Amino acid sequence: MELIPKHIAMIMDGNGRWAKKRLLPRAVGHVKGAANVRSIVQACSDHGVEYLTLFAFSTENWRRPEDEVSTLMDLFIQYLDKEVSEMKDAGIRFRIIGDRSVFAPSLQERIARAEQETSHNSKLNLTIAANYGGQWDILNATRLWALANPTLPISSLEPSAISEYLSTCGLPDPDLLIRTGGESRLSNFLLWQMAYTELYFTDTYWPEFGSAELRGVIEWFGKRVRRFGKTDEQVLGEN
Ligand code: FPP
Repeated sequence: MELIPKHIAMIMDGNGRWAKKRLLPRAVGHVKGAANVRSIVQACSDHGVEYLTLFAFSTENWRRPEDEVSTLMDLFIQYLDKEVSEMKDAGIRFRIIGDRSVFAPSLQERIARAEQETSHNSKLNLTIAANYGGQWDILNATRLWALANPTLPISSLEPSAISEYLSTCGLPDPDLLIRTGGESRLSNFLLWQMAYTELYFTDTYWPEFGSAELRGVIEWFGKRVRRFGKTDEQVLGEN
């Protein structure tokens, strides 16, 4: 039987270059990118992937021109308005990770409603990282731990305690990361959580990353031997 990654994380890169190649405004690339989110969510669900985490907006993306930031925020709102009822029917549980306190109150309300209305679903856990940074997550987790344990010395802080206070608490670590758009870096995504994740980089721009390529990446993943620090012999002996 094919080994399906339980949790796939994706860095959706290349919207701007997809548009530029067609002499279109960058915003059009983001619109196409948002439409592709919908098809990839469906494709992952069809494959039996249980967790999908998408990097939509990093803590560094605020540095982009104001009109581009506002296009991305509008797309996000439209996505929530359009997709939540379908997510409810399709068994998708929606979550946001990242510092949402800086978002407009109306966006924060929509996010809270989407999370609440889909909280009973479990077929696919869709997590969108918005205003997210891996370093922010680790720092925040450490601070939360210290606040919750004021009498404990810092030397008693264990990796498992950090995981407990990360924004991804309750989600398994990603098995597979897919980054589109030709760059081979993590860009401050799930730094702690991806310590043992298989990394797959493709030149395809996000708007063109379709279900056929996804199937190919899942097949590639199925052929990996995941050692988690052990030897090949130890791992093969366990199977
Ligand atoms: C990277 O492309 C993409 C982003 C910074 C944003 C990703 C957003 C979407 C796919 C649409 C909105 C998301 C949702 C969930 C509705 P880039 O602009 O960095 O492309 P470039 O590297 O080619 O310039």
